[in-house]
Amino acid sequence: MIQLRVAPDSPLARKGTCGELRIVLFGPPGSGKGTQASLLKDKYGAEHISTGVILREAVANKTPIGLRARSYMEKGELVPDAVVIGIAKDKLATVGDQGFILDGFPRTIAQAEALGAALDEIAKPLDAVVNLEVDEDELVRRLSGRRVCPVCEEPYHIDTKKPRVEGKCDKCGADLVHRADDQPEAIRNRLGVYNSQTAPVLGYYEKQGILKNIEATGGIDVVSERIADALG
Ligand code: AP5
Repeated sequence: MIQLRVAPDSPLARKGTCGELRIVLFGPPGSGKGTQASLLKDKYGAEHISTGVILREAVANKTPIGLRARSYMEKGELVPDAVVIGIAKDKLATVGDQGFILDGFPRTIAQAEALGAALDEIAKPLDAVVNLEVDEDELVRRLSGRRVCPVCEEPYHIDTKKPRVEGKCDKCGADLVHRADDQPEAIRNRLGVYNSQTAPVLGYYEKQGILKNIEATGGIDVVSERIADALG
């Protein structure tokens, strides 16, 4: 059950979608998409759809998609559009009326167009695209200190978000790991890929009038409040 107060001029009220959150969390690697998606999911009950998480599972299970995606991901490059669009559409088809939080999708104009067409087909347009803005030095600091749970994907940080028990996930108790693409060379590559291939998607959503830019530095809770304000 979603408990969400909707201000009259909020994205949710304008779309007439009170009670169903349908947003994209957008931003460079390390901007806090996964962290904020997890909080929004807890708060509003919407389905968290992360293409990165789905792809990492496919790699771990050595599925055909995983075998194809692995080398792109390890280098910090984008997995081909056709693969990722298929994954996202399959997942969206399983979402009911609880709404969704897309995390890390879309990342190219072709993906954004495919998403728009898929949502038009089911008459569930996006309410907002929330763009998390963080400068590059801070992104590198966050990614190089990040540890993640390989089971539930909850993100931690060695300085700013320590688990209650060192090295163990607070949510499921699994041993935390350092992601292969959080090594210095892959981090640099991911930031370059973001600037050249993903940042242009912002203009696409700005033209649609649904882009919400959020200053995403400060504590995790502060950013979460800014997002809640932006969503109404
Ligand atoms: P994906 O898993 O989506 O990685 P990403 O976009 O690079 O994002 P990250 O998970 O690195 O960062 P985040 O923004 O979620 O930050 P987090 O919350 O963890 O994708 C991985 C790969 O899969 C891609 O490189 C690509 O190969 C492939 N892929 C996925 N989707 C694709 C697509 N659509 N098309 C093609 N390929 C695709 O936070 C980071 C750290 O910062 C954490 O330690 C956290 O604790 C800390 N932190 C968060 N917020 C704050 C704060 N406010 N203050 C201080 N610290 C904070």
